[in-house]
Amino acid sequence: MAEPKTSELMEKIVSLCKRRGFIFQSSEIYGGLNGFWDYGPLGAELKRNIKECWWRSMTQLRDDVVGLDASIIMHPKIWEASGHTSTFSDLMVDCLLTRKRFRADQIEPQSGTAYFYTGASDGNGGKESKDAFSVLIATGKHAEYARKVAKQFYQARGIENPALLGERTEEVKDTTRYNPENGSLLTEPRPFNLMLKTYVGPVESEDNKSYLRPETAQAIFVQFKNTLDVSRQRVPFGICQIGKAFRNEINPRNFTFRSREFEQMELEFFIRSDEVVQKLAGSVASLPDAQPSTLRSSATEDGSTLNPQPNWGWELWHKYWVEQRVKWYESIGLGRDTLVEYWQKKEELAHYAKATVDILFKFPFGTQELEGIAARGDFDLTQHQKFSGKSMEYFDEEAKAKYVPHVIEPSAGVDRLALALICNAYCEDQAPDEKGKLESRVVMKFHPRIAPIKVAVFPLLKNKPDLVKKAKAVRDLLRPHMSVFYDEAGAIGRRYRRQDEAGTPFGVTIDFETLGEQGPELQDTVTLRDRDTMKQDRVKISELVSMLLERIR
Ligand code: GAP
Repeated sequence: MAEPKTSELMEKIVSLCKRRGFIFQSSEIYGGLNGFWDYGPLGAELKRNIKECWWRSMTQLRDDVVGLDASIIMHPKIWEASGHTSTFSDLMVDCLLTRKRFRADQIEPQSGTAYFYTGASDGNGGKESKDAFSVLIATGKHAEYARKVAKQFYQARGIENPALLGERTEEVKDTTRYNPENGSLLTEPRPFNLMLKTYVGPVESEDNKSYLRPETAQAIFVQFKNTLDVSRQRVPFGICQIGKAFRNEINPRNFTFRSREFEQMELEFFIRSDEVVQKLAGSVASLPDAQPSTLRSSATEDGSTLNPQPNWGWELWHKYWVEQRVKWYESIGLGRDTLVEYWQKKEELAHYAKATVDILFKFPFGTQELEGIAARGDFDLTQHQKFSGKSMEYFDEEAKAKYVPHVIEPSAGVDRLALALICNAYCEDQAPDEKGKLESRVVMKFHPRIAPIKVAVFPLLKNKPDLVKKAKAVRDLLRPHMSVFYDEAGAIGRRYRRQDEAGTPFGVTIDFETLGEQGPELQDTVTLRDRDTMKQDRVKISELVSMLLERIR
């Protein structure tokens, strides 16, 4: 089957998300709210599975990471210390005609003829505007279009019947000064802080101003000491958190990719500084090979960065976490061929970072960031020590020294990952209908570990009480172990199709053989259908739980 074009593919994915209940537009019946999304029944299960898988691999399967669940609104000084109040901004521009706001770096360069005006006077007499304005139109397009836009601009400034003043034209190339939608001049770029403000308490005063957290990380830094005191951990160790974050993005876009409310999964992994490692181990291990620009085919190729060693400095710990994270993505179905490892250039690094590797996913709308893994040095703990006046130092028994630990931070977005998994799972192929005729089918090939529903249970026919009774017994047998969907409505082929679209990896059908009607040897056996191959195997009901658990864990 021919590959659908990118935008067409995205349209199909968005439509499936709504039709099957993965993702809905927030507040849809009121026209929606840009940058906010709701997850329907299947989406809620998918997100839950992503978070549970991450939490399990980060904390429950490791000795050296513990969890935290902090509040969303925190003391406003935290955002001063972290630098968010002063630097967490994007450059934005406004359309001078419609006031629509754009991120300056998202305006595509355009070329054409610019029409400049020095002002306008009112043909009805009286008023005059001396505001300069200009409009960009494609070369060869009629000048009247530029004049129409300019007149609208002056009308919005109270000139009822504008006569345009001082018209002149100029050919311009690759400019980003005009609104690509209507040609109107934009304002000069200016910084726009992305934090969402609110007030704590009954009085809306400056003193009560607070922010919805723009990242979950800072709570981990400010609870570093408390967590250390209660968890009996020693550096190197980590604290992780999953939770909501909010950013007043100027242009939310690409479905849920850039939202204003989203969830993050962040780990702050505290390590010794290179100086302390040098003192303790006698030397600091260096990177075994050059920074890769693309992902290696297997993380085990470079075994030296898989087993932490006492002589590791920040560079090796950083590389270790990049590899751990890529392995994790593989374990939930995002193969290395779908990912790109991008080492940020010096000029791209955030103010706190010594090095950052972005793990990018090949979305249908472009290769974009899923997760950033930053080496943050001791920036955050030192800043909080300075702003709070409380010591963030750690006493290292082995080194017999007190110091502020350094940090490696793998930071991923739940919603972005859910979108990546949905895009990755979407597949169109051909399957036989009831009469054996091939028809096209949409199948969501989720890895069983993150699939919203693990198994669907079907009685072959709805109007045979013995089949229905047995199917319900099988459903109840499986339910304590995994998410099960019971469906008795419609032709069996159509029920399979519905589950293929939901991404359910296994289907169990209870038929007359199950009841022993075709001989005792098949009694209490069912067919187990594989979503991807559509192959059906006959298995004993008594073996179903262990067989399925093995495949979904
Ligand atoms: N503590 C570091 C930090 O927050 P970030 O690169 O700004 O770093 C980390 O965000 C991850 O959070 C991103 O890789 C992305 O997955 C997710 N994320 C950030 N902004 C987002 C947005 N507006 N919508 C959805 N996910 C977002």
